[in-house]
Amino acid sequence: MTDINTEWQPKIITFLCTWCSYAGADLAGVSRYQYPPNIRVIKVPCSGRMSPNLILNALKGGADGVLVSGCHPGDCHYISGNYFARRRFGLLGNLLEFIGLEKDRVQFTWVSAAEGEQFADVISQVTESVRKLGPATRLVKNIPAEINVERACANE
Ligand code: FES
Repeated sequence: MTDINTEWQPKIITFLCTWCSYAGADLAGVSRYQYPPNIRVIKVPCSGRMSPNLILNALKGGADGVLVSGCHPGDCHYISGNYFARRRFGLLGNLLEFIGLEKDRVQFTWVSAAEGEQFADVISQVTESVRKLGPATRLVKNIPAEINVERACANE
């Protein structure tokens, strides 16, 4: 078990579709499912709203990983937003590899409003996979000195 007070902790930005995954996160909370506290949640109207630019900006701003979660195929409130998102993320994965960034830093999943337990599982899996990759520094500019020291220690 990881000691949260001494181990390096990844920062993961999660973009959650308001209709499904955000409600799934809410259900995980009210159902008291435990998951790592490494995520910062940003609610979006639909996963189809996600621009790859928002993801790259999160990584440039110091996030170690990004998760985008939307409604299951066929359940998008805007009919096909999640299909567009899925296609876009396939391409983004290729771009990330091309620029030398690990593909697993950006993950995409489906979680419905009724899947609180699955939400907790997804967060645990994503956190572990990003933790294994270590701190992301490839796209980060102007890292504050104290974070630089923190990251250097984590890499030792
Ligand atoms: Fe949830 Fe489109 S409304 S992915």
